[in-house]
Amino acid sequence: MGEETCKPRKRKMKGIILAGGTATRLFPMTATTSKQLLPVYDRQMIFYPLNTLIKAGIKDILVIVAPEHSGQFLNLLGSLLKKHDIHISFEVQSLPKGLAEAFVLGRNHVGDDNVALILGDNIFENDFSEQIKAFRSGGHVFAKKVSDPERFGVVRFNKDNRAMEIVEKPENWISDFAVTGLYLYDNRVLDIAKKMKPSLRGEYEITDVNKQYLKMKELQVTIFDGEWLDAGTPDSLLEASIIVKEKGISRNFHPILEEAIIEFNAELKRRSKMLKNDQTK
Ligand code: G1P
Repeated sequence: MGEETCKPRKRKMKGIILAGGTATRLFPMTATTSKQLLPVYDRQMIFYPLNTLIKAGIKDILVIVAPEHSGQFLNLLGSLLKKHDIHISFEVQSLPKGLAEAFVLGRNHVGDDNVALILGDNIFENDFSEQIKAFRSGGHVFAKKVSDPERFGVVRFNKDNRAMEIVEKPENWISDFAVTGLYLYDNRVLDIAKKMKPSLRGEYEITDVNKQYLKMKELQVTIFDGEWLDAGTPDSLLEASIIVKEKGISRNFHPILEEAIIEFNAELKRRSKMLKNDQTK
């Protein structure tokens, strides 16, 4: 056998957007639609995490959705990027059981590849495409200094900026650095997730996944400074729209996604014109 055939192939990076959940804090807005389909300034929230993955050149993206909103996601994203050779598929999460469930539901989608998971309500100003493209193995997460660390998974660093400990929603202060909703893992994450047990709050915690990579000394944590918005409450949703507008975040989409949105709008206009013509006949 020649040497080349023995060489392990370079794994691709698959994408997952987690957009399930019931978003009770946004009732009544989320009684009729998904949180991730609510507008943030001039487009649906899900376009922002989708943009983060597309900018990094990811071509195969699984969107995990709640069953009651699956049709709406399909209408919006089902054929949006087909022409651009980007494949979007869907998986239903019947009950939200924690972020790490994404790797159980997404097992077939990830296959033998690596995976970038992004939360459907996380909006980043930063462009992480270099880090995503450069990812090879282990885990890589992105941390940001916040004023309310008790709301998040929190990472403590030593004086050389090495991650030492990660705690989910710490009751006692350990650090001001929250682990944000973009996670890169190698293929081992599928087995880690498969063996996981639910936490005391009944969830498959992404923090437990990070803890395992940390224990193996294979978790890279990058601290960043740009805006990080999660839009889980009426106030943070409003604030997200204002910041996105002020900072021009939606003006800075990848050309492929921008073009696809413009085409989608044109198609909607064509359809509404046809409908009008039919009605006046
Ligand atoms: C989840 C994670 C937490 C992470 C946060 C980022 O929190 O459990 O580790 O810091 O997302 O948005 P949750 O939204 O479940 O409260």
